[in-house]
Amino acid sequence: MHDLDDVAVLQDLLVIAFAGDDSAVDLDGDSFFCQVEISEQVANGSAVRELVIFAVELQPHRKTINRAWWQYNRANLPGAGPSEFTSLIRFGTRPLLSVNRRSPHRTVAYIDEAGLRANLREVRAATASGVAVMAVVKADAYGHGAAQVAGVLEDAGADSFGVATVDEGLELRAAGIRHPILVLYGTDPSRVADAIGADLAVSIVDAEELEPMIEAVGAGHLVVHLEVDTGMTRLGVRPQEVGLLADRIRRAAGLELAGLFSHLGNADSAHTDFADAQVEIFRDVVATLDGAGMLPTHVHLANSVGTLTRADTHWNMVRPGVCLYGVLPGTAAGIILTPVMTLETTVWRLWEVPVGRHVGYDQTFVTQRPTRIAVLPMGYADGYGRGFSNRGEVGVRGRRVPVIGRVCMDVTMVDVSDLEDVAVGDPVVVWGNAHGVALPVDEVARACDTIPYEVFTRVGRRVPRVIR
Ligand SMILES: Cc1ncc(COP(=O)(O)O)c(C=O)c1O
Repeated sequence: MHDLDDVAVLQDLLVIAFAGDDSAVDLDGDSFFCQVEISEQVANGSAVRELVIFAVELQPHRKTINRAWWQYNRANLPGAGPSEFTSLIRFGTRPLLSVNRRSPHRTVAYIDEAGLRANLREVRAATASGVAVMAVVKADAYGHGAAQVAGVLEDAGADSFGVATVDEGLELRAAGIRHPILVLYGTDPSRVADAIGADLAVSIVDAEELEPMIEAVGAGHLVVHLEVDTGMTRLGVRPQEVGLLADRIRRAAGLELAGLFSHLGNADSAHTDFADAQVEIFRDVVATLDGAGMLPTHVHLANSVGTLTRADTHWNMVRPGVCLYGVLPGTAAGIILTPVMTLETTVWRLWEVPVGRHVGYDQTFVTQRPTRIAVLPMGYADGYGRGFSNRGEVGVRGRRVPVIGRVCMDVTMVDVSDLEDVAVGDPVVVWGNAHGVALPVDEVARACDTIPYEVFTRVGRRVPRVIR
């Protein structure tokens, strides 16, 4: 919950409200309804600007703007009788006035709620009815905003959530997520109490961790999933250790063995010899545990590509991540995913410069013609990596234009000379679909030799995620 008496919180809300041209704003996963009014009066001979924000916190994680509700509250603004707003702020203030449409904070990640739901439907369509879907929302839901993404997916029918750390699980619980949560990347014994307190299940990814874990649980009760390494050589216990470890877990009073899992080593194709071998090893381990009467309830191997293209990786639970955000590395016939994040910024400043001008740090770009340059309020601190320097493209006025010079921490320059018209305030698409431009994130990622996973997760903290 946010303190609406706190100027910093109000500032953030204002920035987002302005950036999104939208009265439904989202701050750290909480939804607000914002109305901003600026008035100017003359007092004692000098002009006084007063800014009034009306902000009301909505149901967490739901962009439920009910028109009737809004009209009703509008009629109850100050002076019109008691207000139904949970918080109503009247603010005659200076710092807030510095926030305006030309603020450098106009880079926003729009999150398409309908797209998330549609992608989950694709996952459901690719899996049999008894197969549970654990939506992977680690790393802040791949940069999309874990609280709000999990809120939507919980509502849309995901069965459980996968996170990387206990803290990520706690964040979801604080945001009101009730479904089961599994911490996929193990945990330090010092965090076991937190995991138990928040009803998080924890994975055991290393045989050495088991005894300290049992000790840390003490008289408590911790649900665990055991990971087995089937070829990636990163996390998971050895296949030949699984039987003994499962037995030890079952005998430990405080531990409940609820799952067995592994992870596919190819994110873009599950149809390789390597994946075949992984499936085979996993199948053997499952058979061994089953034969010993120790097979836990949940058995899971599939990532997105396994989920969408290979039913023999499903067992009774799948763990899709990137496909929920609209990306499938590789191909899957008949699967239509909807890109969920559109990163948008704006034209902040325009330059008209002659031939021979240097642009940005280190003079890596020199104009070869009279050039019109747009400065964008977005740099590597916002997640637009330095790798895009002189390589990236963004969309302005329906056309792609090239990044010129080095991407800086807070700004990026693009060459807009070939556009007939361009103005300060024009929206700029960095990736996604908007304003007549489609810039698929996988294409954007390739431009700087990376993958959509990294592009998404690098989107900076100061970029508001606005769900719509
Ligand atoms: C253990 C685990 N399961 C599932 C996933 C989801 O993978 P993907 O995003 O390729 O679907 C990941 C992602 O890295 C993971 O680490």
